Amino acid sequence: MTRSQKKEGSISDIFTSLNPDGFGKAALPDRFIDLKKSLWNAGLVQSWRDVLGELEVATSELLTFGGTQVIPRISYEELKGGLSKSLAEEIKRVGSVVVTGAVPKEEALGWKRSIQEYASLNKDRVKGFPANDIQVYELYNTKPQLLARTHPAILHTQAALLALWHTGTSSSNISLSTPISYSDRLRIRQPGDASFKLGPHVDGGSVEKWEDPGFRAYYAKILGGGSGWREHDSFDAGSRTLVKGDLYETANQCSIFRPFQGWTALSNTGPGEGTLRVFPNLQLSTAYTLLRPFFRPRNASSSSSFDAEDWVPDLESSAFPGSMPGNTQEYTDGTHPHLRLKEAMVEIGRVEAGDQVFWHCDTIHSVESFHGGKTDSSVLYIPAVPLTLQNADYLRDQRIAFEQGIPPPDFPGGEGESQCQGRATKEDALGLSLEGRRALGYAEFVAGEGLDEGFVREVNRVLGF
Ligand SMILES: [Fe+2]
Repeated sequence: MTRSQKKEGSISDIFTSLNPDGFGKAALPDRFIDLKKSLWNAGLVQSWRDVLGELEVATSELLTFGGTQVIPRISYEELKGGLSKSLAEEIKRVGSVVVTGAVPKEEALGWKRSIQEYASLNKDRVKGFPANDIQVYELYNTKPQLLARTHPAILHTQAALLALWHTGTSSSNISLSTPISYSDRLRIRQPGDASFKLGPHVDGGSVEKWEDPGFRAYYAKILGGGSGWREHDSFDAGSRTLVKGDLYETANQCSIFRPFQGWTALSNTGPGEGTLRVFPNLQLSTAYTLLRPFFRPRNASSSSSFDAEDWVPDLESSAFPGSMPGNTQEYTDGTHPHLRLKEAMVEIGRVEAGDQVFWHCDTIHSVESFHGGKTDSSVLYIPAVPLTLQNADYLRDQRIAFEQGIPPPDFPGGEGESQCQGRATKEDALGLSLEGRRALGYAEFVAGEGLDEGFVREVNRVLGF
């Protein structure tokens, strides 16, 4: 393994808002003033005005016509026939999608029962958040997780969604048609829970989005000013693979190219029952996020004004609202008023056990602060991740961690499930389908459809074949 373990912890470590020190209390060092100045150009004023204008139109429309129905939904049966051009465009515009029915309901409910049995069998060793009444488990290596990550219909869904991306000039080093496994944890959230309240956020770093040269290249059109933000391509995998979201190497920070985060439902859950919300306009929220640190309210009384006239360039402070090095980018009405989060964050709608939700790595998302339902709201976090050289390198270390029963490299470390009875083993992995074994890094890749010969050779070498 080439990666060292992260310190022990839980999902709360990466959210400034879930930490006792609170949100936005610590000022960023002065080097962030220099960073802002180095990125500034006068054309950003025009971008800012445009984006605020468009946000006003988009959020008003959303409030008039919107709600949950703006989130694209497709059944797995339909998806198998291929995404229509219009639905593909809609998923790209909104930045998220619900795929229903890929896994039979009974199978998904069986997975949950099996996880609950495992958690109770190993109750003295299982950790999570919050520690005294776990809703989000530090479990990565249960048998149902292994089965779900390699489920043919889930892998097929991932490939269909990864095809929304394009590889640009790096086509020989990425295979968007080859999904691989990125192990993550799970949530079994009980009715009445108010502890697991993840406010609006974007995964994959905060200040890193301006600090890292790879991110700056990916966002070059937005940072270039003028109307460039309209041309930003959120689905340019060739460029996105070059970003470094874990500049500070903190636990819970995704270090690989993860185009879509996602989950597979293990329960029937609807709005108000502790589920996911998203901001349903990817282009606008991304542009606004990138532009926001360059502007401040003209005076204290204009801090919640939507009017561009009330905002002026801010190159004298180190403020990057909602950003904290190594943590997730967070959003509140105070830090990002123009998003009108309270109204514009849309519930993803009712899901049944076995349904999947995916959202683009730049989509602003949150988890309802209170679970007001009558039954558990449960998911396995399973993203859509393609084969790349860097991702193969991670897959090798993830495989080693899996065999030891410890958390995967990006997650809080410690002994994890190494002493737990009944966890998934290498033998279980070797008993899976060829496609499943490949996704886990247990079988060689072969050149062919979407897989360049030189790339495959390199990938297999990295994986030790
Ligand atoms: Fe997240």
